[in-house]
Amino acid sequence: MKVIVAKDYAEMSLRAAEIVAKQIADKPDCVLGLATGSTPEGMYAELIKGCEAGKVDFSAVRTVNLDEYYPIKPENDQSYRYFMNEKLFDHVNIDKANTNVPNGMATDAAGEGARYEKIIEDLGGIDLQVLGIGQNGHIGFNEPAEELDPITHLADLTEETIRVNSRFFESVDDVPKQAFSMGMKSIFGARSIILMASGKNKHNAVAKTLEGKITTLCPATLLNLHPNVVLICDEDAYNG
Ligand code: PGA
Repeated sequence: MKVIVAKDYAEMSLRAAEIVAKQIADKPDCVLGLATGSTPEGMYAELIKGCEAGKVDFSAVRTVNLDEYYPIKPENDQSYRYFMNEKLFDHVNIDKANTNVPNGMATDAAGEGARYEKIIEDLGGIDLQVLGIGQNGHIGFNEPAEELDPITHLADLTEETIRVNSRFFESVDDVPKQAFSMGMKSIFGARSIILMASGKNKHNAVAKTLEGKITTLCPATLLNLHPNVVLICDEDAYNG
């Protein structure tokens, strides 16, 4: 795993945006795997700036998002579809028909998993996957567990994740208890991955990942098996 330690959140965001912009320049119709949450917001802001300056062209880019709460309607302002529209898609020249997020209203969980995997396959796989990391080491909603799901599936959120994510909701009771998430195989199919981390509260998960050993009890550690991962973190996440 290559490691880039940025001074702070702003520099982490810039460095990650540079990698995404280069991917788009190298392959204008690339497939980006995208993530939501606080971590990539600054990166999306940099990409919007790049697009406005005529330096980043999203016109042929295709995207697949990592996850979506269940049950949630796309127009709900807590949905990840809403987040992506608001933080990126509405501000760049992407064709929304080329953007994919799991269907948070799908009632047939296995069917939705299969449908989403087919989308990824039909796109020719993911060129560059962006990942955040949970304080507990989750990636997407692949939560620490003895067994992990390989493909897109309906995941139960851990109590810790529900508590951490409650900062976006009026109360902890409003946080959905489940989410569709790409699985480890879906993520590992990406030709390259950037793992982003910012803040002291991510230090333990980052340090565990950098130890180099592998455990499903910290899913990010499995990224040590992938040949093309760059960790971009700030000093707080790196040093604690
Ligand atoms: P965050 O979430 O970017 O909001 O910290 C990351 C994650 O839980 O994967």
